[in-house]
Amino acid sequence: MADKKKDPKDDDDYDFFAPHPHPTKVRVKNSFFNMVPDAFSGKSIDFKEDPRRTPTKKPNKNIADAPEEEKKEEEKKEEEAPPVEEKLEAEAIVIQEANPWDQSDTSAQSRLFLKGGRIVNDDQSFDADVYIEDGIIKQVGNNLVIPGGSRTIDARGKLIMPGGIDTHTHMQLPFMGTFAVDDFYSGTKAALAGGTTMIIDFVLDQKNVSLLEAYDKWRNWADGKVCCDYGLHVGVTWWSDQVSKEMEVLCKEKGINSFKVFLAYKDVFMLEDDEVYQTFVRCRELGAIGMVHAENGHLIAEKSQEMIARGITGPEGHEMCRPEEVEGEAVNRAVTIASQANCPLYICKIMSRTAANALANSRRKGNVVFGEPIAASLGTDGTHYWNKCWRHGAGHVMGPPLRPDSTTPGYLMDLLANNDLQVTGTDNCTFNADQKALGKDDFRKIPNGVNGVEDRMSVIWEKGVASGKMDPCRFVAVTSTNAAKIFNIYPQKGRIAVGSDADIVIWDPKATRTISAKTHHQAVDFNIFEGMTCHGVPEYVITNGHVVLDEGQLRVTQGMGRFIPTPCNSEIAFSRIRERERTCQPCKVERDGYDGPVAKIDGNAPEMITKTSNPILSADAGSDKFNSHCRPTTSSGGRNLHDSSFSLSGAQYDDKQAKRPSTRTLNPPGGRSDGIW
Ligand code: URP
Ligand code: ZN
Repeated sequence: MADKKKDPKDDDDYDFFAPHPHPTKVRVKNSFFNMVPDAFSGKSIDFKEDPRRTPTKKPNKNIADAPEEEKKEEEKKEEEAPPVEEKLEAEAIVIQEANPWDQSDTSAQSRLFLKGGRIVNDDQSFDADVYIEDGIIKQVGNNLVIPGGSRTIDARGKLIMPGGIDTHTHMQLPFMGTFAVDDFYSGTKAALAGGTTMIIDFVLDQKNVSLLEAYDKWRNWADGKVCCDYGLHVGVTWWSDQVSKEMEVLCKEKGINSFKVFLAYKDVFMLEDDEVYQTFVRCRELGAIGMVHAENGHLIAEKSQEMIARGITGPEGHEMCRPEEVEGEAVNRAVTIASQANCPLYICKIMSRTAANALANSRRKGNVVFGEPIAASLGTDGTHYWNKCWRHGAGHVMGPPLRPDSTTPGYLMDLLANNDLQVTGTDNCTFNADQKALGKDDFRKIPNGVNGVEDRMSVIWEKGVASGKMDPCRFVAVTSTNAAKIFNIYPQKGRIAVGSDADIVIWDPKATRTISAKTHHQAVDFNIFEGMTCHGVPEYVITNGHVVLDEGQLRVTQGMGRFIPTPCNSEIAFSRIRERERTCQPCKVERDGYDGPVAKIDGNAPEMITKTSNPILSADAGSDKFNSHCRPTTSSGGRNLHDSSFSLSGAQYDDKQAKRPSTRTLNPPGGRSDGIW
């Protein structure tokens, strides 16, 4: 590595595998703001003043994973002089007196000084030091004055990056007759071990359950357990006026700005297209992002039965009854519906070339749509479903499935590198062997879901950066910053800058590790990346200013993470939407009315829609006399499927029919749901 001084903007020739030069600087005592060069900090925001920011929680359990001796050791260390500072004392002025921003008891705070590293943000990388206090980045620059008692971390040769944000997890999800085995404790602990400092999980309850009650349930599960910050998306698994009203409460009072609909999981989570449209319209009104699980649930239901009828009961049947065309169709449908609703759309877990192309085409047409490949689709493929070992195949079952076309991960990575895809999650939803075995004789009953929350950062570094497809700035964009922008928590999250949360990963791009279920921190007994050796290893992970991964030692605190509210109307999603709302309204043509003769309704002609000028808008819609369900019912009294199932009045064809006490589907695709719902 050349020892020439790097231009912060010039990262093309930055060799992140080479040793880093350690700058020696003469310190100049300066005012607080002068110490923060604009070019480095970008923004200076005091999030303490921000009403969204909740105070750092006191741990409700102490260093959960550390044995008693280690805790004592830690306390002793704190009392002793700052360790690495001696080594680096020539490079920093240490101010012993109280500092102007020192507002409270210093012993309760964590003061950290990250020295000699290279900061990587999504838009630039540069050599600079970072000073952290009370969970916030307070200074970024080369000539920092730091208070005494700070711990110095030697970051020479390392990259200082915003901690990862995993946009898609399902910790302890009740699903397919069981609960995901990684809960909010083990899941967030594993996240931190891998360099991810925030997850966004899904509130996902059954049809007819109040969204507000479901939200409270998830908050109760998560708040006491999370080791890192978290946010929530909310699944809309049914549609009604109540749901619409509750969406507003969630947005205005509960910190939610994203709602997910499912085009799959028929009879369980799936909505019909008209309901999806109405959900997206509501999202747009509220300034929330529409999210979608894009697969065709009706086709999957049909084709999975065909597989079973052919005697195909193993994990390969899971892929074959939902081939990539079925995912592609749903992506096309979702972007069309969202476009018609003028709603920004986020497509969860892009698993195939076909789906990625559909999304990219839609973006090229100008639709506001974002795509999320996941660690699984970027790091492995669907050939595993044909593995002779049933458990191995079942361990990879998820929806949409991994694809047997082994060029898929590389293709998705190419699109991620060039911004056809924008953000990465994991869909982490883990089940042990005995849980997967619920489907040992019928792939439809294998609980869907795989790991990823711990390994996402390393897998993307290995397949994306170490392969030469993307640079470190793009890595930061797709693992952290873009998520923070889309879900409107930027630059509190997703950036190394003054005022941002001290959620940081100090990354060693030269180190390697080999992934294995034997050594991972997740609760699950299987790892879809088993045996993969990755360059790029987190050496330190800092969450809210606390060093939780310390030279390979993981010490997390259960319940230490905070719920991070996600405000509506994120700029990246809504500025174009609002402009279009203003400028692209349909306009009526002003014309003279028709005053010629009008034919009389012929009583012998089929009724069709002639009973009222517009039955769907009719005040009488849903009544026996005039309604939108004009065709005769089926022999068992059901709605003719050619009729619309909704009216704007909310009336349903069967409003007047007595309901059966229970209409639960006993064998939905993917298995029975009794025992959980
Ligand atoms: O296969 C998966 N990912 N299961 C969890 C639920 C979902 O589809 O998001
Ligand atoms: Zn999911």
